[in-house]
Amino acid sequence: MRLGAALLVAGVVVLGLAAGVDAGEPSVIPQPVSVQRREGAFRLTPQTRIVARGPAWAEASKLIDFLTPATGFVLRGATSRQGDEPAIELTLDRNLSDLGDEGYTLDVTRGGITIAARRPPGLFYGIQTLRQLLPAAIFSKAKADDVTWDVPCVYITDTPRFQWRGLLLDPARHFISVPDVKRFIDVMALHKFNHLQVHLTDNEGWRIEIRKYPQLAQLGSQMDWNLRRRGGTGPRRFGFYTQEDIRELVRYAAERYITIVPEIEMPFHTGAAIVVHPELGITPGPLGALPLEQRWYKTRGLIAPRPRAVAFFQDVLTEVMELFPSAHIHIGGDEANTEHWANDPEMQEQMKRLELADAHELHSWFIARMDVFLAQYERRLVGWDEILQGGLAPGATVMSWRGEQGGIAAANAGHDVVMAPTSHTYFDYYQGPPESEPLAIGGNLPLARVYSYDPIPEAIAAENARHVLGVQGQLWGEYIATAEHLDYMAYPRAAALAEVGWSPRERKDYDDFVGRLERHLQRLKTIGVHFRALD
Ligand code: ACM
Repeated sequence: MRLGAALLVAGVVVLGLAAGVDAGEPSVIPQPVSVQRREGAFRLTPQTRIVARGPAWAEASKLIDFLTPATGFVLRGATSRQGDEPAIELTLDRNLSDLGDEGYTLDVTRGGITIAARRPPGLFYGIQTLRQLLPAAIFSKAKADDVTWDVPCVYITDTPRFQWRGLLLDPARHFISVPDVKRFIDVMALHKFNHLQVHLTDNEGWRIEIRKYPQLAQLGSQMDWNLRRRGGTGPRRFGFYTQEDIRELVRYAAERYITIVPEIEMPFHTGAAIVVHPELGITPGPLGALPLEQRWYKTRGLIAPRPRAVAFFQDVLTEVMELFPSAHIHIGGDEANTEHWANDPEMQEQMKRLELADAHELHSWFIARMDVFLAQYERRLVGWDEILQGGLAPGATVMSWRGEQGGIAAANAGHDVVMAPTSHTYFDYYQGPPESEPLAIGGNLPLARVYSYDPIPEAIAAENARHVLGVQGQLWGEYIATAEHLDYMAYPRAAALAEVGWSPRERKDYDDFVGRLERHLQRLKTIGVHFRALD
């Protein structure tokens, strides 16, 4: 055994000497579809050309911007490669149909690097992989001296398993500043996530400017719910995004091929809106008679879906659609206690008038009003799996959070689903023994469990598996008050989820992932991500 190990070490050394460099083994997260290691390395120097034409240029300039701070090289661009000059070439080729919209090939030889894709997102993801082949110091914002910028020679072919690879942020509970959201987006892009759901409204705050109802954000973002209930949780409770902020975030995310999916909660989790507009609530008269600060605990968080409330939320969605190009618009739909409607004379009357059997059907009726409305603008409604109760609206996509049953039922009925079960994707849950972790909402979701997730349960018939758009991790904000704490809850679990969403099932191997993760954490450290250390 010892002799064998010695020979193996000797073999590696000889290989390293023969190549003239030892650039290390690739440790890319998420694991690509195929990685062929070759001998040797490409060395990035100030003479390296960046070669691209047409729309590939936008990606090339992102690569140049990325390489400059740590190397100090101001790499020059060109539209074609001269002879055998060392170059990184980005090419778009419509004929590479096997690569889909997001796939790429990355060919590293001693003489140069070529990233090829059918569409620009593929080039972008090829660049994310290339970043991870360089020494971790490449992520430094300051010039890193004494580093040799070697890229191991490899041939990588890569496409994602799922089209929806998401994370959720919750600025409704604790507001998250625009720079902090951008930083979060940057780290998402490195992991090839492509959807960011932003939970913009809840009982604790309304965080998006709506021009037609300006007080929604102005007053609805001033709630001190967290302060009172959690005993004080930091300085970022208040605040909202102006429409300019939203446009800036949407643009920033789009540059990184991340779609921001807005979530406007209804009919429950709407306390902040009801405080500002008591006419939305179940008991508008008594509520409206109270001073603003006394309304917060009396709203029940639930609107009454009378025509005026339907029109109000459609007005809100109109402005939301103007701001967010996302094909999917999330309307929440979770956790409504419809007993409040069942017991309310006005709602009983409305149910009778609409010939609805019970309050679950009233819930479905309300969600369907939003589904039809969004469909007129060619948008698709997404909701948490409670929207299945009382009948699912025709165009709805279901986000399955209370386990997988909702997702299974919806996919088998031909609806699109995103898997987001508490069991594997709730990153607000504890990730270690509660006594040694910061206060969290509960649960137990260690890294290995996230990694083990397969978003296509066996109970979904093979012909319906295509309805599983993908997977999403949730960072609910009740207990997450700072950007550092957000990092801690997100990483490395989100790195594991990135692999769940991107890598082929047969390429997944937890021990191998942890080995790559150890090197990957050096990158996150250099970026300044406050991740949780491995056990
Ligand atoms: C949820 O966690 N209420 C979707």
